[in-house]
Amino acid sequence: MQHKHLLSLLTIFLARSGVVCNGTSSRVSAQSWVDGINPGWNLGNTLDGIPDEGDWGNPRVVPSTFDDVKKAGFKGVRLPVTWAYHFDTEAPDYIVNPSWLQRVSDVVDMVLERDMYVLINVHHDSWTWADVTQASANYTQIEENLLAYEPINEPPGTTAAHAAELRKLENLFLKAISDAGGFNPERVVTLNGPQENSDLTSQYFIRPTNITNSWAIQYHYYSPYPFIFSAWGSTIWGSAADKAALEADIANIRYNFTDVPLIIGEWAASPVATEIAARWRYFDFLVRTAAKYNTSTVLWDNGADFLDRANHIWRDQTAIDIYMSALGGEANALPDSTTDPDAMTQFTNADLFVRVGQNVTSQSLPYIIPLNTSLVSITGDDNNLLTGGADNSIFGKTIVFSASLLRSYFTFSASPGSIANLTLEFSSGADLTSNLVLWDTPTINSTSSSVAAANGPSISIPVQWKGINKPATVKAVTANGTYLVDDFTKYYGPSQNARTTYNSQWNWDTNNLIITAAAVNAVKSLGEDVIFTFEFYPRVSGNAVDYTLTV
Ligand SMILES: *[C@@H]1O[C@H](CO)[C@@H](O)[C@H](O)[C@H]1NC(C)=O
Ligand SMILES: *[C@@H]1O[C@H](CO)[C@@H](O)[C@H](O)[C@H]1NC(C)=O
Ligand SMILES: *[C@@H]1O[C@H](CO)[C@@H](O)[C@H](O)[C@H]1NC(C)=O
Ligand SMILES: *[C@@H]1O[C@H](CO)[C@@H](O)[C@H](O)[C@H]1NC(C)=O
Ligand SMILES: *[C@@H]1O[C@H](CO)[C@@H](O)[C@H](O)[C@H]1NC(C)=O
Ligand SMILES: *[C@@H]1O[C@H](CO)[C@@H](O)[C@H](O)[C@H]1NC(C)=O
Ligand SMILES: *[C@@H]1O[C@H](CO)[C@@H](O)[C@H](O)[C@H]1NC(C)=O
Ligand SMILES: *[C@@H]1O[C@H](CO)[C@@H](O)[C@H](O)[C@H]1NC(C)=O
Ligand SMILES: *[C@@H]1O[C@H](CO)[C@@H](O)[C@H](O)[C@H]1NC(C)=O
Ligand SMILES: *[C@@H]1O[C@H](CO)[C@@H](O)[C@H](O)[C@H]1NC(C)=O
Repeated sequence: MQHKHLLSLLTIFLARSGVVCNGTSSRVSAQSWVDGINPGWNLGNTLDGIPDEGDWGNPRVVPSTFDDVKKAGFKGVRLPVTWAYHFDTEAPDYIVNPSWLQRVSDVVDMVLERDMYVLINVHHDSWTWADVTQASANYTQIEENLLAYEPINEPPGTTAAHAAELRKLENLFLKAISDAGGFNPERVVTLNGPQENSDLTSQYFIRPTNITNSWAIQYHYYSPYPFIFSAWGSTIWGSAADKAALEADIANIRYNFTDVPLIIGEWAASPVATEIAARWRYFDFLVRTAAKYNTSTVLWDNGADFLDRANHIWRDQTAIDIYMSALGGEANALPDSTTDPDAMTQFTNADLFVRVGQNVTSQSLPYIIPLNTSLVSITGDDNNLLTGGADNSIFGKTIVFSASLLRSYFTFSASPGSIANLTLEFSSGADLTSNLVLWDTPTINSTSSSVAAANGPSISIPVQWKGINKPATVKAVTANGTYLVDDFTKYYGPSQNARTTYNSQWNWDTNNLIITAAAVNAVKSLGEDVIFTFEFYPRVSGNAVDYTLTV
């Protein structure tokens, strides 16, 4: 992830405002901390931006962001902070710029003032946060030692030896905190294993000895990689095998550390990279499973993922609602859709699709409706209740949307795109939305170009969207069927063969499909024309466009 830096080994919990401000010294146990911050939200790609806040495309933090976060149901905020670019002096003092310290402190206060928990992601010099102006020679010494250890922190930590080095660094860190005085010895700290990976942490984490602070283990969870990062045409999630794999990961680390509070400091299935019905299912299952294994969760949000900070809008409010009700133990109804990797067609059953020119007839969408849960109402954008009449009915686990209901939305004059969102209210759990989408295959302005005439390091192809405004995946093959990259996808299902990875080979923006510089270079080195097939939602035959990059 972009926010991970060489030095980001360690994190500190700050005590809640009451403890910080009024001088009581009641010790907070790590378990009650971990419980208290659940669920948490990450202010990602902001104070951790390099070199500065704002450099990774997010607006300067304003207090109202934390109102949005609290209102959504989050109890705490993790603030990843990059310190390394804010030193006024180099070795041996490494004095941190006072205005940067003040800025971080101000943002911490914004959260504390809202009575929410804060978790500061700190680097080697984190302990100076409390009072940099009084940094002693001892601290300086420790800073130097930690800086010297920089290079070993991020190389894939995969061995017991790496874990031993991590332990050394963490012990220095813990001693610094303990020596710093004030409330620091009472703060809760989270300690990490190699890569903050659950499996490596289970295998190699060494418990600290001689520790005064109450401690928890933090790990991060972005699995399975292809689904979370939109790689290789993986646009489904939720089979029994998918669920078993996720549960095994979360259970294994719990069983390895039965007496240690655990927190997943980062996890996400972003609206940017994941299919909506699969995302909702993932949210529901991950949150329930973490709760089952007494593990708190903190959602990663890089600013483009969930909260549109400038407009105070959650880009997928339903996912957030599912998160909160799953955590509260309520059963969520969820749209059903295929979880079969061999399926040739994948509909997003969170959305209701009508193709341009298609006669509007009634449609049946499958839902997973838990026992004792029932559909209470369906409401349109205009707040008209659509239940009670002939507009919809339930047959088993299928909701039938009548032709007359759909015709009132999909009129002859409608243009392709999202027509309306219906709200489905259930007797338990989150409300769901059903996006009524009039779709057709998008069109592009040109169908080929030569790598020599590339319009930049990457290639932008103007597109007219007609439905869901993003690609589902992109296939890249030569005329004779040779894969541009990732030959192993030939072992995957038909919706994944030769498919490439979001951000690595393809991207998009408001007006363009994008072939990345890396993909352009791959075509150059292959030395053959490559056909990029951009596939869209719904993933049905023909909902795709070809673009040929010639050499
Ligand atoms: C400290 O602050 C907390 C929270 O505001 C309050 O509950 C507590 O009574 C205060 N303790 C003292 C000793 O003032
Ligand atoms: C800090 O500790 C080092 C040894 O770790 C010692 O040499 C030095 O005198 C100490 N500095 C101060 C100011 O106490
Ligand atoms: C501990 O974690 C490892 C690695 O994930 C796993 O193989 C093992 O089964 C776990 N131990 C227990 C007791 O579950
Ligand atoms: C334990 O920690 C204390 C306080 O930091 C320190 O004075 C002492 O030397 C440590 N003992 C060991 C065995 O590391
Ligand atoms: C879960 O955490 C609570 C404290 O929040 C503790 O009482 C309980 O024993 C823990 N359960 C397990 C299975 O670790
Ligand atoms: C739509 O329905 C009309 C009348 O039933 C029929 O004549 C027409 O062929 C249908 N069009 C399509 C695209 O199915
Ligand atoms: C469903 O409701 C019945 C009758 O009230 C109850 O016995 C049963 O435990 C409930 N099942 C679930 C899963 O809530
Ligand atoms: C329906 O919801 C989606 C997802 O939030 C949004 O992109 C779309 O604009 C909405 N449609 C309408 C008509 O508001
Ligand atoms: C692409 O085609 C559309 C529709 O024909 C047109 O409006 C747009 O200006 C074109 N864009 C570019 C960059 O040529
Ligand atoms: C396709 O072309 C490549 C490059 O010329 C060649 O290496 C490969 O063997 C060909 N594959 C097939 C199936 O013909």
